[in-house]
Amino acid sequence: GVGPDLAGLRLVVSAGGTREPLDPVRYLGNRSSGKQGYALARTAVARGARVTLIAANAGLPDVAGADMVHVQTAVQLREAVLAAAADADAVVMAAAVADFRPAVYASGKIKKVDGRDPEPVALVRNPDILAELSATRPKAGQLVVGFAAETDDVLANGRKKLARKGCDLLVVNEVGDTKAFGSEENEAVVLSADGSEHPVPYGPKEALADTVWDLVAERLT
Ligand code: PMT
Repeated sequence: GVGPDLAGLRLVVSAGGTREPLDPVRYLGNRSSGKQGYALARTAVARGARVTLIAANAGLPDVAGADMVHVQTAVQLREAVLAAAADADAVVMAAAVADFRPAVYASGKIKKVDGRDPEPVALVRNPDILAELSATRPKAGQLVVGFAAETDDVLANGRKKLARKGCDLLVVNEVGDTKAFGSEENEAVVLSADGSEHPVPYGPKEALADTVWDLVAERLT
């Protein structure tokens, strides 16, 4: 291990994927398992930080030594992240957040009607938590780190996303059927607002997490 080099820091990590309910039995969701975010929280605890892990539907055991907050939807995730960010030195958004949610929540199960086509599902925009944090910096000097899940033109899209979101670091990973989602390994390039780019070779999600914390620690001192 690297020892308690993050001691004294308050870090917030989001993990997992939001679920946006349609009715009491159905939701719009994504394939995030939470493993990358949990690896970030575990490594930060191991390195001595005070960690709040905000978990969306991860179904993983709580991280020992972290303050756990469990949420389901993007709106709930935003509330929890903003509350925890008030006194955080850095916030890392590893959660896969739904960009849209159903415009209407049906309080009863939506029924299939014989001979009739299904109603289209209208969607409305969810808040962009990463962009809001980057623009407001709830604590002065706070570092904001995003992830980007891309399927094509991975680096080019990542660079655009870094500029658009306004965060300090963006961890760009390719996602697909067998890539990143749910697996124990990941591969990424960490883009920095200062223009530097840090490739992280394919390996355990903890290794990527440790690189993220190295880059965060460098920028906080
Ligand atoms: O959970 P695993 O199975 O281990 O998989 C890990 C992962 C692939 C989910 C993770 O490494 C990852 O890429 N997380 C970010 C997924 C995502 O939502 O990417 P995005 O490109 O759609 O969003 C970009 C950034 O903006 C993310 O930091 C996201 O948290 C944030 N965001 C997005 C939308 C929104 N409404 N609010 C946000 O804050």
